[in-house]
Amino acid sequence: MNRRPRRNRQNEVIRNMVQETSLSLHDFIFPLFIIDGQNQRVPIHSMPGISRFSIDTLLEEIGACVDLGLKAFAPFPGMPEKSKDKYATESHNPDNLFARAIREVKKNFPDVVLVTDVAMDPYSSDGHDGIVENGEILNDETLEVLGKMALTQAQAGADIVAPSDMMDGRVGHIRRVLDENGFQKVAIMSYTAKYAGAFYGPFRDALDSAPKMGDKKTYQMNPANSREALIEAELDTAEGADYLMVKPALAYLDIIKLLRENSHLPIAAYNVSGEYAMVKAAAERGWIDGEKAMIETLISIKRAGADVILSYFAREYAQYLKK
Ligand code: PBG
Repeated sequence: MNRRPRRNRQNEVIRNMVQETSLSLHDFIFPLFIIDGQNQRVPIHSMPGISRFSIDTLLEEIGACVDLGLKAFAPFPGMPEKSKDKYATESHNPDNLFARAIREVKKNFPDVVLVTDVAMDPYSSDGHDGIVENGEILNDETLEVLGKMALTQAQAGADIVAPSDMMDGRVGHIRRVLDENGFQKVAIMSYTAKYAGAFYGPFRDALDSAPKMGDKKTYQMNPANSREALIEAELDTAEGADYLMVKPALAYLDIIKLLRENSHLPIAAYNVSGEYAMVKAAAERGWIDGEKAMIETLISIKRAGADVILSYFAREYAQYLKK
């Protein structure tokens, strides 16, 4: 045998030397859940290690993360049921929970980057990402709400707005609204290929944002499709997206690779709540080594071609690096 691949695996120094992919804390965006009130840290049952924070404890949490080297965060608001309505009106109230949180974070941590979620579901009494009329999700009427919501977030200090709704034309509409109002510098991270599936369950528990009727299949993508992801990517690029995102990450590593190979834009991947919960649940039962599974999961997303990883593991991974 003149070819023996094992020669390059024979000790740790050599293995490290020939390692093709590596993770850096610079790659990560850490999602965080915000709720109203004071001194709140409410654990999310289905996401061990993850809590909902009131604005005061959110600042403590971000401070701790910054000390660990994490600098980018994706906050999501958990809204009380009484503030929700059909048109997600609260989403563009400049004094809503989300805008107040964004302002406070940017005031206390001006160098932190905030990637803010643009979608109606946390504010919608229907629990959908669009306006519901006679059981149908209205596209163009929803764009108006999304534009106002993105502008409210930009005015509060968001660096990157991230539409996660999957309405047609939303990137172009949001870009126009931001530019008309002087927010040329605010970037758009589009949830380009967001699939309708089971992996968002724990997130919807965390925000109490599950659809009240029906499912999200008329706007989120069919898990069986990959060419359609290229159509979404072409449109988002033409409409002005600065990043293309694939979501979820693990069951869609091929889609991450597909977009990586077909775009020059940075590719983001969202390692979603259900993917986090699966690793945690199996680790709690002693069925897998949670730390090793975390690292293997994250590296697979990077190897597939993601430049940016949104993951609930971000803080734990940062802690692991400090060990
Ligand atoms: C809503 C939104 C969802 C997630 C991010 N933004 C849920 C959904 O589409 O129902 C899910 C994130 C996760 O599961 O971690 N627009």
